[in-house]
Amino acid sequence: MAGSRNPLLQAPLRPIPSRVAVIGAGTIGPDIGYYLKSTLPDLDLVLVDVAQAAVDRALARFGEYAAKARALGKMSEAEAAAVTRGVRGSTDYEAIRGADWVLEAATEDLSLKQKIFAQVETLVPADALITSNTSSLPAARVFSGLKHKARATVTHFFAPAWRNPVVEVVRARETDPQVVEYLRWFFCVTGKVPLVTADVECFMLDRVFDNWCNDAAHCLARATAAQIDSVAGEFVHAGPFFVLNLANGNPIITEANTLQAEAEGGHYDPAPIFRSVANWATCAIGKRVPVPADVTAVVRDRLLGVLWSQCVDILDRGIGEAPDLDLGCRLALGFRQGPLELMRSMGEPEVLRVLQRFAAERPGMPMPRRALGEYQRFERGVLVDKLDGVIVITLHRPEALNALHDELNDEIGQVIRRHEADPAVQGFVLVGYGTRAFCAGADIGRFPGMLGNAAASAQYARDCSRLLAHLDAMAKPVVAALNGMALGGGLELAMRCHAIVAQREAWLQFPEITLGIAPGLGAMVVPYRRWPQAAALFHGMLRHAERLDATSAHEAGIIAELADDYPSLIRQAVARVHTLAGKRRVPLDRPVAIAPFEAVGAAQPFSREVVGIIENAVRAAAAAPTLTAALDIGYQAFGQSACTAAAREGITAFGERRKPDFSRTG
Ligand code: COA
Repeated sequence: MAGSRNPLLQAPLRPIPSRVAVIGAGTIGPDIGYYLKSTLPDLDLVLVDVAQAAVDRALARFGEYAAKARALGKMSEAEAAAVTRGVRGSTDYEAIRGADWVLEAATEDLSLKQKIFAQVETLVPADALITSNTSSLPAARVFSGLKHKARATVTHFFAPAWRNPVVEVVRARETDPQVVEYLRWFFCVTGKVPLVTADVECFMLDRVFDNWCNDAAHCLARATAAQIDSVAGEFVHAGPFFVLNLANGNPIITEANTLQAEAEGGHYDPAPIFRSVANWATCAIGKRVPVPADVTAVVRDRLLGVLWSQCVDILDRGIGEAPDLDLGCRLALGFRQGPLELMRSMGEPEVLRVLQRFAAERPGMPMPRRALGEYQRFERGVLVDKLDGVIVITLHRPEALNALHDELNDEIGQVIRRHEADPAVQGFVLVGYGTRAFCAGADIGRFPGMLGNAAASAQYARDCSRLLAHLDAMAKPVVAALNGMALGGGLELAMRCHAIVAQREAWLQFPEITLGIAPGLGAMVVPYRRWPQAAALFHGMLRHAERLDATSAHEAGIIAELADDYPSLIRQAVARVHTLAGKRRVPLDRPVAIAPFEAVGAAQPFSREVVGIIENAVRAAAAAPTLTAALDIGYQAFGQSACTAAAREGITAFGERRKPDFSRTG
């Protein structure tokens, strides 16, 4: 059974687990346990280890993590108390009895794991989930002795497991596909980013990581560890040797690459030096040492060579999928850009040159089996599904709460155009990935480059609006399904759809004024023309960043329908596409009367200058004779706001994770 691209489109086939046992109280086991407890506070969790000291340390760590989260204001006192409540430790496997999920995170030793699972199977029901956190051993081997293999697979977490969102879920031959689907759903609904991989040695991401490290070690004949990490710094936040030190990773690479060599050939043999070195002399994160240009060139080519060699192999053999590979490398391994994105930005001639050199230096390593352009054919920021004649487009940027930028807007537009003329397609639904956000607005990471340049900023707003203008003109309905927060540019996108449905917990906001800018993609125009009855609400949202909850937005007529949960949201949104088919939209080309703005109070915490820019734009746009003219006023106001001192302060503060201070910016 092939599941939907968006794991949340279907209702789950099992309930949320209520009793979970984690075996192995080293580092990652308790971290996985902490993630589970912080997202499912009522969970009954037991940590099992053969060593009492490890169990004690693990339980103490729960308390420390919760105290830290509390101190940082990430958890309320009640939440912190709930995380540590219902957590037990034990050295007795009897404690596992009756668990509905057993998650093993013990030492990477095949026979040990097999022994553990033989025992586990005598203690839990035949349908209890059993998963292993192995990073390299295939599920087929780990679970070979189980009587009921269909409920077992590998769920591979990345450090630190309580915070790193990526989990590889392995599609093993004997695992029931519905178990894989359930695990995708479960991880997604609990805030993780599940990536499905084939059941091969080291799965998907550790093939990249292990071989990246292994080839870095091969380079030690020509450069020092610090030099190699410095060169790698162009591509990753932390170089391979720094990470190996952090994770005590040398024996892991030896084991993982031995496994790959046994399965696929001697070109994967681990570098012998891993057996004789405990710690590498390298530089700290963000630091570089001087590297001669010729050494840089050699090391750089080698690192890129092994990276791309692994990537094409993963894709050619169907070990993982292109968007997951890029996303996983960024989120789990700390690459600045996904390797496929890197390939695209460097261009085919350069990629071919690097790969040819790598093939000559490392005979036997995988090479592309297709033209390079073939590897670039994938959707980068959206997941596309079809339900009941409706194309469901899921905004998929889990690292940024699905924030939008011009390329993502264009990608959505391309998907729409590709299906728009198809008579079998009734229309479209736009929804966000995960349970928190439809979309957290425009990608703020793109803003610093625009500050101070009114023309470039206005043009960026125009570029981002190509999709919105297309939606305005579409005959087939597009329905926005708000599964969580809809902010700034995300809300502007939703407001251009033919209708909005929303989960009850969703909320709407234009937070731009908190960043010292004006919302440029129609927020100062479209809501007033579409829902003139709610103009007072929009005044408050634009000038004070007031939040509007879904129920109030429903009462005000902005949201057409409320839904109880994600599957209902999708069902209702799809049904609404069918009801809207063939209906004409209310034209927005007429000017509209605007209620006067109340004077800004003395306690106003935001920039008065930018509030003024917003008010002027709202008034001018309301009087504009056409929608196009009104929208252009908005683009220009955004450009104007990007040149204020307030914008510089607001955008900088967001990047520095601090509260902006508009008291001195005007
Ligand atoms: N653009 C780029 N990245 C964004 C983003 C945006 N609009 N909104 C959130 N993110 C990123 C965060 O930087 C963070 O990344 P990190 O983990 O690498 O630090 C990640 O998404 C998660 O967000 P975080 O801020 O840690 O979550 P939170 O629960 O503490 O706060 C928000 C959630 C939405 C309140 C907060 O992220 C926010 O204020 N975002 C900006 C919203 C906005 O102003 N949108 C309009 C832009 S014009």
